[in-house]
Amino acid sequence: MSSTPSPGPSTTTDADVPDLLAVPATSDPDARSPWWRSAVIYQVYPRSFADGDGDGIGDLPGITARLPHLVELGVDALWLSPFYTSPQHDAGYDVADYRDVDPRFGTLADADALVARAHELGLRVVVDLVPNHTSWDHAWFRAALASAPGSRERGRYLFRDGRGEHGELPPTSWRSVFGGPAWTRVTEPDGTPGQWYLHLFDVSQPDLDWSSSEVVEEFHDVLRFWLDRGVDGFRVDVAHGLVKADGLPEWDAALEMISGSLAGEGEARTPPPMWDQEGVHEIYRGWRKVLDDYDGDRMLVAEAWVQPLSRLARYVRADEMQQAFNFAYLVSPLRAQDLRDAVDATRAALDAVGAPATWVLSNHDVVRHATRLGLSTDGGNPDGLSTSDPQPDAATGLRRARAATLLMLALPGGAYLYQGEELGLPDVAVPDDARQDPTWERSEHAVNGRDGCRVPIPWEKDAPSFGFGPTDASWLPQPAVYGELALDQQRDVPGSTYEMYRAALRLRRELALGTADDLAWTDLDGAARVEDGVLAARTGAAVVVANLGEQDVVLPTGAEVLLVSGDLGADATDPGRRLLPPMTTAWLRGA
Ligand code: NOJ
Repeated sequence: MSSTPSPGPSTTTDADVPDLLAVPATSDPDARSPWWRSAVIYQVYPRSFADGDGDGIGDLPGITARLPHLVELGVDALWLSPFYTSPQHDAGYDVADYRDVDPRFGTLADADALVARAHELGLRVVVDLVPNHTSWDHAWFRAALASAPGSRERGRYLFRDGRGEHGELPPTSWRSVFGGPAWTRVTEPDGTPGQWYLHLFDVSQPDLDWSSSEVVEEFHDVLRFWLDRGVDGFRVDVAHGLVKADGLPEWDAALEMISGSLAGEGEARTPPPMWDQEGVHEIYRGWRKVLDDYDGDRMLVAEAWVQPLSRLARYVRADEMQQAFNFAYLVSPLRAQDLRDAVDATRAALDAVGAPATWVLSNHDVVRHATRLGLSTDGGNPDGLSTSDPQPDAATGLRRARAATLLMLALPGGAYLYQGEELGLPDVAVPDDARQDPTWERSEHAVNGRDGCRVPIPWEKDAPSFGFGPTDASWLPQPAVYGELALDQQRDVPGSTYEMYRAALRLRRELALGTADDLAWTDLDGAARVEDGVLAARTGAAVVVANLGEQDVVLPTGAEVLLVSGDLGADATDPGRRLLPPMTTAWLRGA
């Protein structure tokens, strides 16, 4: 791998940095302390962000060279999806060595350089931690395969004897989240058919046994390894899955990542035996102690697909993690009452434990919201698009996405952005023969999977691979529309999605919306009624109005319009009246 980053002609490069630094990435430290309570964290998916060496796979030097883009955009931190040594059967969520960098992405020195440069630019760095499973290439799993049943080496994973006369049936009928059975039988070192190991995800991702003290100690050490290198936090993969119910009780339903129904079953329901078990909390209390030995407000954010929100709140109690992704907001239908309910339920549940809310609309596992919100599905987390599916109307999707984003960025707490959403990128219907997500094969082509949100992002319309790297190579094919949406087509263009995000992040900081603690719904004297599909809230010095209904909303006379997600309408009979059209959000002052 080249150590000189050269991601093609750059739109935002180091040369721009002195200017950009005039706009601090964080505002008054007192008002925002600790930083993660209100931070906007930008998710970088390393293989698709910027390719420094032109092999078609993004890498760490490519990311480092593009960090000024994040400063210009105005985020506080970046979260890097896994870049560790991995055979890449699940795009790096199958880690073979937690303390090294995969050669596809660079070297440990490149990781150090990235963290150092980010800190120089005023950005914090969160890295991904994958503790539920390792790769089957991890030294521990190889040792387990080479060892006998009952050995210490097998005890780090969930090996069990099979059922049936000759152990030929899997220990339980648990299914893998990616489709197919969650158990695979091994061949013992003597060549005979042997035990089975559990993998909630791909066959290449054996689940660790967290009742093993060796596993617990190893991850404390991995945390320290990266904390010593200066990272500011960890995003914890499958945080609700590490502990399985005693005895691995039977569960024959299809396995989804989510524990509990979105409709909100009571807390009394029994979670499936692989999710949201009481024992996970002890693990996170241990991790919190490790982090608390370090200065600088290091943090943990849980990827825990659990419902109801009172269960999610248990991951962010005072002695556990600092944040948890709030998927209730992501999966909500774009309707005023549903969103209001999601916001209220989130704030109530998290306030109860003193944790900040977080908000997110897109990530590397879901259909990008510029497309998702244009589908006829009513909320939820739909499967990716296939080329033979009817394609949603791009303009409608983008319009709704921009409205949803401006509502989200006005809410108090932390917010997560996924690379490319600032460009309004749609999800891509990746041709079947180019699909890489293991769900495609494991589901026997029943599930399209997540490739559509992982396509390398565009920086310059007329450059090879739209500026992703110096060559045309791209590990997933980029659609032509990515050229039209490239950063250089939107930068300094009034009304572009990029400039909307930039303005929103600047205003959010100036108005301290992330730390506001007084959000209150209002109907603006009857002009913004939730029954008419309109959501309006006062927060700090601002009023946010999201018109998700079917009629124009007349904005209060005299109010200053700070930002709007689309064009305002005018009343032909009264030019002084400003109209907020359907599927548009505005930020106001003085309303
Ligand atoms: C959640 C990650 O976000 C996803 O990409 C991955 O496939 C699974 N966890 C398994 O690690």
